[in-house]
Amino acid sequence: MIRLLSRRKSKPALDRWDPSATLLEWTAGAPWSIGDSFMGVMGFGSTGSGKTSGSMAAISLAMLRAGYGGLYLTVKPEDRQTYTDHVRAAGRLDDLMVFSPDHLLRYNFIADEMAHAKSPAGLIENLTALIMTTTELAERGGRSSSGGDNERYFRLESSRLARNALLVLVFSGEPVTLPNLHRLIVSAPRSIEQIQSGEWRNTFCGECLEKTDAAEKLPSQRADFDLALSYFLHEWPALSSRTRSVVQSTLTSATDMLSRGAARDMLSSPKPNVSPSMMYEGKIIIADFPVLVYREIGQLVQIVLKLMWQRAHARRDTTKNARPTFIMADEAQMLLVEEDQRFQAIARSTRTACIFATQSVSGLVEALGGPSAEPKVHSLLTNLQTRICHQQTDVRTVEYMQQLIGRSRQLVMNGNQDRDANWLAPLFGVDTGQSSGFSESWEHELQAADINGLARGGPPHCVTEAIVYQGGRAFPNGHTWIRARIPQEPRRA
Ligand SMILES: Nc1ncnc2c1ncn2[C@@H]1O[C@H](COP(=O)(O)OP(=O)(O)OP(=O)(O)O)[C@@H](O)[C@H]1O
Ligand SMILES: [Mg+2]
Repeated sequence: MIRLLSRRKSKPALDRWDPSATLLEWTAGAPWSIGDSFMGVMGFGSTGSGKTSGSMAAISLAMLRAGYGGLYLTVKPEDRQTYTDHVRAAGRLDDLMVFSPDHLLRYNFIADEMAHAKSPAGLIENLTALIMTTTELAERGGRSSSGGDNERYFRLESSRLARNALLVLVFSGEPVTLPNLHRLIVSAPRSIEQIQSGEWRNTFCGECLEKTDAAEKLPSQRADFDLALSYFLHEWPALSSRTRSVVQSTLTSATDMLSRGAARDMLSSPKPNVSPSMMYEGKIIIADFPVLVYREIGQLVQIVLKLMWQRAHARRDTTKNARPTFIMADEAQMLLVEEDQRFQAIARSTRTACIFATQSVSGLVEALGGPSAEPKVHSLLTNLQTRICHQQTDVRTVEYMQQLIGRSRQLVMNGNQDRDANWLAPLFGVDTGQSSGFSESWEHELQAADINGLARGGPPHCVTEAIVYQGGRAFPNGHTWIRARIPQEPRRA
């Protein structure tokens, strides 16, 4: 039976957060450490199989008790209550902060980027990457994700437009805000006639270009500006109107959503009072913007938060602050983007645990863009070392777990006989004219029935079961996987 270890607040910080320190035990003698958490987790399970109340709850509680700071992302409206219960059970209510339109916490991601960027070029690159990540969502919902050359071309062109527009805005001295970026993009000259008549000079884009032209710049910045100038005065107006409108709308659909309503109020606040660095003091933030309630805005806000939190982790000096942190997302298919896979590659060195759960491999591929997303899903999963599989009926997930775990030599007893004959007799040297014996074959270590038959929790036993796999590890049973029994925490009255 899984065992959560008691709170270890009294220990000195170094021991307390040593990567080898145990967070929980899947079964007796099968510990899972702080270091293991940094290698990432993906949990699978059919609906009602015990992901949320089983493995996710166990990991969440263990991390809270160990003193992690963290960010919980939400999909279902009840997620906030679930996580608040964990925080309460771990005795960490003092560290809890709820980021939602009904609370007072506000953030400003552009101000955060500006405060930490080492140079204007770094700022432009980071903001371009962030905006392009948010366009991923719109693309999934809209244009078909054929993954073809067309899609790549439009993405590339959209990111050129974003980069050039940001460069002009940053150097123009105008406030770097999303509404300004939006204005600049939609006012960019659309025809050679507009350029020749000088009409473009009276637009916001024209004003920014002139201010940037006049601003003092280093030689390399001058060269970058010359490229941007040539882009807006020659390349952009020369694109076919259809191409230009697809490229522009790819970008403006994201900047527009971020510039309005709750997304603007929460992420572009003039008086921000929350920052990712609060996690290093042990703060636990619930992004209470559940996707099932707020839809695209909920996704957008949380993806921006996740990205900004990951960036903060990436620049943290862990020699000065070693507190482990987590980013946790249940039903993660709604909140995962390509950037997560890149971050996972460095998560270990940043002492960050990315803990995700989803129903199935098929669902994940579908949510991330259909068949063309398979390579992305594959590489994301490869980087999340601990994979937990609750009861599962999706054939692809079952096959995935089987292939992951691999085959082993199995002894299979076989025989053929007449209906009433003693078919065991040949095994004992009795000649009956029938045949039977043992044969060796390489079989999957886990049969589909092993995964399908796992306990789903609920009364009377209130225990969920899961197969826990960890790449490159040997559990006490001699395998890379173990069957864990995870009791559900008692429900709140
Ligand atoms: N604290 C609890 N005590 C007892 N049973 C519980 C508890 N929490 C959930 N259950 C029950 O255990 C089963 C698994 O629930 P859980 O919500 O963990 O599944 P899940 O895999 O997260 O499902 P979904 O995909 O729908 O989110 C359900 O039948 C649920 O009603
Ligand atoms: Mg759940």
